Amino acid sequence: MKPERRAMKNLTSSITLAFLGACMITPVAAAVVSPPQEIVCIRCHGGQPGRLGEPVKLWRESIHAANNVACNECHGGDPNDAVNAMSPARGFLGVPKETDIPGVCGRCHVGVLKDYLASAHGRALGKGGPTCVTCHGNHLVVKATLDIINEKRCSACHGYERARTIREAMQQTEGLILSISGRIDGYKGEGIDTERLEKGLFSVRNSFHSLSHNVDAEMVKRESARINAELNGIAASLGKIDEQRKNRRLAGVGVVGGALLAALILYVLRRSYD
Ligand code: HEC
Ligand code: HEC
Ligand code: HEC
Ligand code: HEC
Ligand code: HEC
Repeated sequence: MKPERRAMKNLTSSITLAFLGACMITPVAAAVVSPPQEIVCIRCHGGQPGRLGEPVKLWRESIHAANNVACNECHGGDPNDAVNAMSPARGFLGVPKETDIPGVCGRCHVGVLKDYLASAHGRALGKGGPTCVTCHGNHLVVKATLDIINEKRCSACHGYERARTIREAMQQTEGLILSISGRIDGYKGEGIDTERLEKGLFSVRNSFHSLSHNVDAEMVKRESARINAELNGIAASLGKIDEQRKNRRLAGVGVVGGALLAALILYVLRRSYD
């Protein structure tokens, strides 16, 4: 490193340290020391009271924290420079406006953004429709399940009936997927070749999940029925495996039984000749 650059770096570090000191940063909790947990956003906001500090506590419990998706991924800014962290020149966006939220999340969740924008909810963005954070929250985002579709949340803006239809159709498919995936795992454990079945299930599962943001109840019912038919196809292949194994077992019993019978006949014959 060139001396003047080193001097510059020392200078910025001292400024940073002085600044951080001035902010009276509380040290980061000892349990979390992976790199994104040390970025300046978290060190400073972690020590802030109220609405400035709360996001850090919530975020720490999120699936984003577990996957190193930190503050700057959604708010922009410079996570390594405490002085200029929130400078617009470093890409800081501030708190996203309601109509900008889908774009912020959709930078990474590209397929979901596409489905959302095409749905009745996406079309009502800025006109009373929900955004991503209405259903997933902003900082405490966790693994998504069908429990997100519940009466409290889904009847805040309209009746629950259409939401219930969607949840029921999807729950049935989800149940089928789980039971088939459990059976496939069982066969795999016994050394049976399940690769083709696993691939089939993977693609069905993907088209199933892409249903969740399309809130057209008729389409969800139609698609669920189509997916259920594919799942039943996979279940039928599993049934064939079961059948083959049963036949093999029966054949095994037959062979052993036959051998015993032959031995018995031989024995009786011998006795009668003796
Ligand atoms: C040295 C302390 C410090 C650092 C570092 C810092 N912030 Fe802040 N942040 C603050 C304070 C204080 C406020 C409230 C006053 C303000 O808006 O300037 C704030 C406000 C915010 C807001 C709300 C703005 C609003 O309009 O309500 C967001 C979002 C935010 N910071 C995100 C970040 C992100 C992302 C980073 C890292 C890239 C970061 N901050 C780094 C201290 C800090
Ligand atoms: C997955 C994206 C995402 C991440 C990661 C994220 N935020 Fe946010 N944050 C948002 C969104 C979206 C809003 C606006 C929320 C709304 O309208 O409900 C917001 C709002 C805020 C606000 C304003 C809160 C208020 O009540 O006014 C602050 C401050 C903030 N975030 C700081 C942070 C800090 C610090 C981190 C890192 C620990 C962080 N955010 C991580 C998406 C994110
Ligand atoms: C920088 C990329 C990035 C941004 C921006 C981002 N996410 Fe994520 N998100 C991820 C990663 C990585 C995961 C964990 C891996 C996975 O499940 O896909 C994840 C997981 C999720 C999950 C759980 C997925 C599951 O399988 O159940 C949800 C829900 C989610 N994010 C919603 C949001 C929302 C809402 C926003 C905006 C407020 C957002 N994300 C912004 C990268 C991002
Ligand atoms: C009306 C509520 C609602 C809105 C609005 C919404 N989601 Fe979801 N999202 C859900 C539900 C319900 C699931 C879980 C469905 C399941 O279990 O298959 C889900 C699943 C997800 C998943 C994991 C499954 C997948 O398809 O990858 C991600 C990631 C996600 N949402 C991100 C987003 C983002 C980003 C936005 C905004 C562009 C958004 N969601 C808007 C309700 C919503
Ligand atoms: C913030 C308000 C808001 C919330 C919360 C909300 N919706 Fe909606 N929803 C709308 C608006 C606006 C429309 C479009 C106008 C209409 O059809 O009523 C809509 C339409 C719908 C439609 C009709 C779609 C179509 O193509 O006909 C369904 C189904 C739906 N929402 C399901 C849900 C579910 C499921 C949830 C909960 C996970 C939910 N909504 C939560 C505002 C909301």
